[in-house]
Amino acid sequence: MTTPAYLDPARTTPERVADLVSRMTLPEKVGQMMQMHTYDGVDHLVEEWHVGSILHASPESLTRAHALADASRLGIPLLVGEDCIHGHSFFEGATIFPTQLGMAASFDADLLERVGRATAREVSTTGIHWTFSPVLCIARDLRWGRVSETFGEDPWLIGELASALFRGYQGDGAGDREGILATAKHFAAYSETQGGRDASEADVSQRKLRSWYLPPFERVAREGCRTFMLGYQAIDGTPITINDWLLNDVLRGEWGYDGMLITDWDNVGNLVREQRLFPDYAEASAAAVNAGNDMIMTTPDFFTGAQEAVARGLLDEARIDEAVARILTVKFDLGLFEDQRRPDLARQAEVIACDEHTALNLEVARRSIVVLENDGVLPLNRDEVGRIVVVGPNADDPDVTLGDWAGASGQADWLMHGHPRAQIVTPLDGLRASAGDDIEIAHELGAEILTTEPDPAGGYFDDGQPRAQIVIPREPDDALIDAAVAQAEASDVCIAVVGDRGELVGEAKSTATLELLGGQIAMLDALADTGTPLVVVLMASKPHVLPASVHAMASAIVWAANPGMQGGTALAEVLFGDVEPSGRLPISFARHVGQQPTFYNQIDAQHGVRYADLTQEPAWVLGHGLSYTTVSYSGLTVLSPEVSVDGTVHAEVTVANTGARPALETVQVYVRDVNTSATWADRELKAVRQVELSPGESVRVALELPVSACTIVDARGHRVVEPGEFTLLVGPSSRRSDLLTATFHVVVDATAAASGS
Ligand code: NOJ
Repeated sequence: MTTPAYLDPARTTPERVADLVSRMTLPEKVGQMMQMHTYDGVDHLVEEWHVGSILHASPESLTRAHALADASRLGIPLLVGEDCIHGHSFFEGATIFPTQLGMAASFDADLLERVGRATAREVSTTGIHWTFSPVLCIARDLRWGRVSETFGEDPWLIGELASALFRGYQGDGAGDREGILATAKHFAAYSETQGGRDASEADVSQRKLRSWYLPPFERVAREGCRTFMLGYQAIDGTPITINDWLLNDVLRGEWGYDGMLITDWDNVGNLVREQRLFPDYAEASAAAVNAGNDMIMTTPDFFTGAQEAVARGLLDEARIDEAVARILTVKFDLGLFEDQRRPDLARQAEVIACDEHTALNLEVARRSIVVLENDGVLPLNRDEVGRIVVVGPNADDPDVTLGDWAGASGQADWLMHGHPRAQIVTPLDGLRASAGDDIEIAHELGAEILTTEPDPAGGYFDDGQPRAQIVIPREPDDALIDAAVAQAEASDVCIAVVGDRGELVGEAKSTATLELLGGQIAMLDALADTGTPLVVVLMASKPHVLPASVHAMASAIVWAANPGMQGGTALAEVLFGDVEPSGRLPISFARHVGQQPTFYNQIDAQHGVRYADLTQEPAWVLGHGLSYTTVSYSGLTVLSPEVSVDGTVHAEVTVANTGARPALETVQVYVRDVNTSATWADRELKAVRQVELSPGESVRVALELPVSACTIVDARGHRVVEPGEFTLLVGPSSRRSDLLTATFHVVVDATAAASGS
């Protein structure tokens, strides 16, 4: 018998795809479009539904699924996806980096690319081909439960870091055995919630989309990110899953994207159940396929729905063939028909949590820590501090140290016990290890955050996802507080590690408030009253509102996000000054939840600049972060005061380390278009330069900015450079008073602009 063409590696991918599609039955084709979780086993997935892909598979389920796929009629290999969000989230003992938000504080794309590469190296040894990362959502409402999954609030920074991360994942392309497929998600404006409510309708115009939400996605689409995941929500009445304009006119049309589209979890089912656009799964399936979806995530009813749609004439089988062809193209390109890239135990032993990745993780964790306030207590002087008490509910919590999408965070039913404790350095572990023999470290809990109760609505949503339990904040506990206070009084320094925890983070776990819950505020108030220098470490998924006692009394405030497996070491190194703090906020911190939103690049025309009862100023703005030295900016000079629309603005600024310690300074470059044809943000981040400065050192930093980045989106929705006057703003944060300014003009006359182009 001759080998079928699709099994012949000498043939081209299009030939193999065409041959295979021609051999598939309709149920096999529909199944090929399905990606299912393995919580209920795998046999029915492969044998009954012929699924093309699985996600959330334990190593055991994976082995079983592969064997079944091998034995299937056509032997089509499975494409295995997983949420490897900040490291290989659910592979026991893999390297878990800081959360995306934590990593964003590094403002360092090269570092993120290395994280992507290390993650891909680990993931690729475990039989997984595809990560659902990076997240390109813009975090604008801090109440949203998924802020920690984002790169923060700035579209430019998001594009820069997402681009780096996906390049790291995908490496040299499909043939790269240490590479994995990346996913740009959640396309688009999923984070534009109502009141922070997860997956609520995104009230966003096409102009607003083009202004802020689409640019990061456009960048990675054009750069070759191979898959896009479609958000749950609707925009202007149309769920993303069937949004023809977004998927076809913009993504596939304007941007020329030819990668694969995957829905988010049961988006097609939601078209029937929650969004109620269709009476049955046949109509919903037809709409989803007609809109251009390729892979349908966890909608079991798609199997019969799509077949019924064909039978009822709602869906042309040719549309299914197109989607199947795109999926098979990915499988052939990856070479899965020749080598399914199954788990490789020998390579796992070499790369999972290897020394190189652990060292990288520590480097990233160091870069993720942001010193928000410091009256001079930091760095802690080992010669002067004899006793430190470490208090707070997050001081020694391994799961909070890792954050969402890791170990015990709930998405993996085979890892509910979490990653091995010995691999996780909590703040307490880190401080104990770093303090040295002469410093005594005491520990008290001080406060608890919450307890939970089952939701009376049931343990699961209709789509099969687990429903979070209801959070009941703990009452302050006098005994715990008294013990912490007593220890603080007997210590030279008190380090309070506070924040949130998994029950308050993630999908369907948005919060109404941004306060520190449970007994934390009472504990902090009491600690502040002791007079012992208080260092507050916010180890939290997202920015929180800190109590007045902390703003007034704390000697230092540090944000550590969820810093990953090496987080405690990095934190201790920063607190003791073994490592200089260099993190900068990728997101602003509110003073009060009612200030939402607080992102820096708002269109700020309004009556006044404050609420009657409160300033509108955030507590800390995008880009803010202190060093242990002082850095001054001076002499901002635009070298090309007139530039053409296709030119480049060249400028220089002097950055000087005026203190006694080294610095890694993030020089931030913002642009203001002085007069615009439509309302626009006052300033937008367009570039950063990171410079290392020794004490006393002063450098002239060259800045380059392509004029093509100085765009606005006009009232017709077109992204354009509008010639005229611009302001270049350069400094250490996005706060206006921190920024030096200089003027340049964009001119249409190319000859007049010769010097600048
Ligand atoms: C739903 C989440 O929204 C998405 O981010 C994730 O990748 C999928 N579930 C798969 O777990």
